[in-house]
Amino acid sequence: MTEQPKFTNSKIGIDAIAFSTSRYFLSLKNLAAHRSVDYRKYSEGIGQLQMSVFPPCEDIVTIAIDAASKVLEKISDPDHIDLLIFATESSFDISKSAGIFVHHFLKLKPNCRVFDIKQACYSTTAALQMAKSFVQCHPGSKVLVIGSDIVRYSPGSSGEPTQGGAAVAMVISETPRIAYIEPFSGVYTTDIADFWRPVAATEAKFDGKLSAQSYLRSLGFCLEEYKKQSHCESNLDSFIDYCCFHAPFNKMAIKAAQQSFRTKDPTDSLIYNALIGNSCSASLYICLISLLDNCAENLSGKRIGMYSYGSGCVAEYFSLIVLDGYRNWLNPIENEEHLEEREEISFEEYEEICSGKKGNKNYKTSGNVALIEIVEGYRKYQAVIE
Ligand code: HMG
Repeated sequence: MTEQPKFTNSKIGIDAIAFSTSRYFLSLKNLAAHRSVDYRKYSEGIGQLQMSVFPPCEDIVTIAIDAASKVLEKISDPDHIDLLIFATESSFDISKSAGIFVHHFLKLKPNCRVFDIKQACYSTTAALQMAKSFVQCHPGSKVLVIGSDIVRYSPGSSGEPTQGGAAVAMVISETPRIAYIEPFSGVYTTDIADFWRPVAATEAKFDGKLSAQSYLRSLGFCLEEYKKQSHCESNLDSFIDYCCFHAPFNKMAIKAAQQSFRTKDPTDSLIYNALIGNSCSASLYICLISLLDNCAENLSGKRIGMYSYGSGCVAEYFSLIVLDGYRNWLNPIENEEHLEEREEISFEEYEEICSGKKGNKNYKTSGNVALIEIVEGYRKYQAVIE
């Protein structure tokens, strides 16, 4: 590994952060009853209680616009956003970037670069590190990083209870108010067939057991590298104060914490994930929001270890330092309400959505933009007024 260059400003980081998910969910108790599975396998074995389900008027763009609108409300100078990176593995177009729709509805300035990036669930971390480098090279610039995914497995498959979806949006700047990104990390890449989605497929293909093994094995390699890069001479338990892990399902993150630390309890970071399900590129950052919103201790000055895993696979362990006053820039009540106010759908409605039928129900989107039609594969969106 090449030595990390020394930068004058190493305090670049997260200035604002927010998430959005569907207004609808399926209870895993209901799913378990229809699949003749003991509900405790889902609630205890994999650690999930509900999963967000997305109606026909909602997709990765509509939830991304909702999440991004929330972060833009928190910054006074959206004209300083010179770059928008949209990270996703649920892309519906292999040419046009989903980020352009977001750029349009958010009315960002025209001289702002926009592109999508992909590497399974790792992509938002790639975007975050790229955003940091961009800000280092362009002092005064801000970058809007969005991770948005909807996870679909075949009905009845072992992956079914680990579906879900959400979008996270973050503004990265040289004067962050929430946390800054430390200049070292441990990265691990290897070629493995644990999870993939061929271009025409709407559902992911996967080897569940292999993916879980690869997730934990990659974590081991990343931590070894992270220790070297950070010159952490003490044990990690005392170096890292809190930890967040990519959470395809909560039990995976709990196993990761048990493998790497003796004293860390990731419970606060997993509260939202238990209700949303896997949100791939957004997952790790929803865990971060959950930790910041729900941890009773004042986290100012604390180091948060972040484990990002994207099947295929690329993994990275990095860390954030939480800044004084971070709580002033969070929305714990709004986040809790967003999840509590979701409507539970029936199993029949879930099946209808999975089959791609429109049905008669008058579904709504989470934000102010809906997908209204698809013409020759081109998606058309419209602002909705309630
Ligand atoms: P499975 O094979 O049906 O479940 O699906 P299982 O038999 O392994 O049981 C799961 C756990 O429930 C076990 O606990 C059981 O003992 C327990 P463990 O041994 O693991 O501690 N259990 C029960 N507990 C209480 N009461 C009961 C009971 N019955 C069983 N009655 C599997 C599990 C993960 C394979 C499946 O959910 C799956 O395939 N998911 C999709 C793939 C996935 O999420 N992989 C995670 C790592 S890869 C990753 O994170 C990347 C990803 O996000 C994609 C990307 O990068 O883009 C997926």
